[in-house]
Amino acid sequence: MKILRPATVHGQKVFIETYGCQMNVNDSEVVVSILKNEGYSHTDEISEADIVLINTCSIRDNAEQRIWGRLRDIRQYKKNKASLIVGVIGCMAERLKEELIEKEKLVDIIAGPDSYRELPVLIRTANEGGKAVNVELSKEETYAEISPVRLGKDGITAFVSIMRGCNNMCSYCVVPYTRGRERSRNYNTIISEIEELVARGYKEVTLLGQNVNSYNFTDDNGTVTDFPTLLRMAAEVSSALRIRFSTSHPKDLSDQVLYAIRDYPNICKSIHLPAQSGSNSVLKQMNRKYTREWYLDRISAIKRIVPECAISTDLIAGFCTETEEDHKDTLSLMEQVGYAFSFMFKYSERPGTQAARTMKDDVPDDVKTRRLTEIINLQNRLSLMSNRKDIGKTFEVLVEGRSKRSLEDMSGRNSQNKMVVFPAGGEKPGDYVMVEITDCTSATLLGRRVR
Ligand code: 5AD
Ligand code: SF4
Repeated sequence: MKILRPATVHGQKVFIETYGCQMNVNDSEVVVSILKNEGYSHTDEISEADIVLINTCSIRDNAEQRIWGRLRDIRQYKKNKASLIVGVIGCMAERLKEELIEKEKLVDIIAGPDSYRELPVLIRTANEGGKAVNVELSKEETYAEISPVRLGKDGITAFVSIMRGCNNMCSYCVVPYTRGRERSRNYNTIISEIEELVARGYKEVTLLGQNVNSYNFTDDNGTVTDFPTLLRMAAEVSSALRIRFSTSHPKDLSDQVLYAIRDYPNICKSIHLPAQSGSNSVLKQMNRKYTREWYLDRISAIKRIVPECAISTDLIAGFCTETEEDHKDTLSLMEQVGYAFSFMFKYSERPGTQAARTMKDDVPDDVKTRRLTEIINLQNRLSLMSNRKDIGKTFEVLVEGRSKRSLEDMSGRNSQNKMVVFPAGGEKPGDYVMVEITDCTSATLLGRRVR
């Protein structure tokens, strides 16, 4: 049965739910901006929505399974409102294309990460009762001039996307297939977006890209702007604005970036440097293009140039061919670096990647789980050690709000990106305060305010 929907879209309410990385969070803000310009309005209440968009992630199988589950929940809303339009956008839309429309009758719209400008057209098609798909990837699209509608509630921290896509081709990773080739956004639009955020009272921006260290924009005069230059330009916008960035590929982390971090107090002293594995043979299988020795050289450079810098990482347990010896290399790398925190995952084979095509997923699941547990246990110990070293130090903390655990406490982050909790004394979100650390857990620094 063809469902008739209103011919005019004006005022239709859009609800958007976001899964996956920070880039997706920012993409949802771009999507809302595009749709608002076309006369749609945004709602936080799915029950009020005329259009539900799910911005999806494909990075691991469990991310996709969660989204299939969520789509099943959304059927309920469609039962109550037959005219409801459901769109799947982002990485899973790109990866599963028509399969989603065929298997899941509920879905009206499929839009990949580079086709968000087309959403108004796709929604119109859906409004007329059709199914609409656009998953074309682009070599140029950066949504450069679109000013994202900030969906985060705090009004203090914001993401600014500086590039899209990825050229690295790590053998396990689906991102190059879902997000396409790497391209850098014009720095003029990046800096004006940051200026606008400062004018609106924002206190922290995180520059986002799959590999920010390879940021490279050539303007009409042929002048090339690289990442260290962009970082300095961003830091110059306002000394009261903190700058963070994510993610760095170890092969591209230059000393120039570290000098920029050292030179500007408002560039945060924290680097997320995904190692993935501590074993040279696994790194080779992963096509990471660096060795353990190269990685440790970059760590020494960080410790030399920015001694107070916190280092965090991503690690994968149980990649193809990983032996017990390789796994021990990962544990020893973790000890050697002394990570402040890590994101730790079990390897999940992604269809179409180089690993899925050419390697056997040969580490049994129970072994992957056991290795992951060992990695997590070690990280908990390292985080506690790292936090204990901060007892007695005083940090500048950007207040984010009340502590989740107790209303009598406030919480915020220090430059190292560690959560700091201290007794409330009239601070407001967005204030910078000095806090002396008196105690800690493996996840949090506890302290008291000093003048
Ligand atoms: N399986 C498990 N973890 C993965 N990651 C990326 N692809 C996979 C995969 N197939 C992890 C990496 C990456 C982080 C964003 O997700 O550690 O840095
Ligand atoms: Fe982000 Fe990668 Fe997940 Fe896509 S697949 S949403 S790029 S983490």
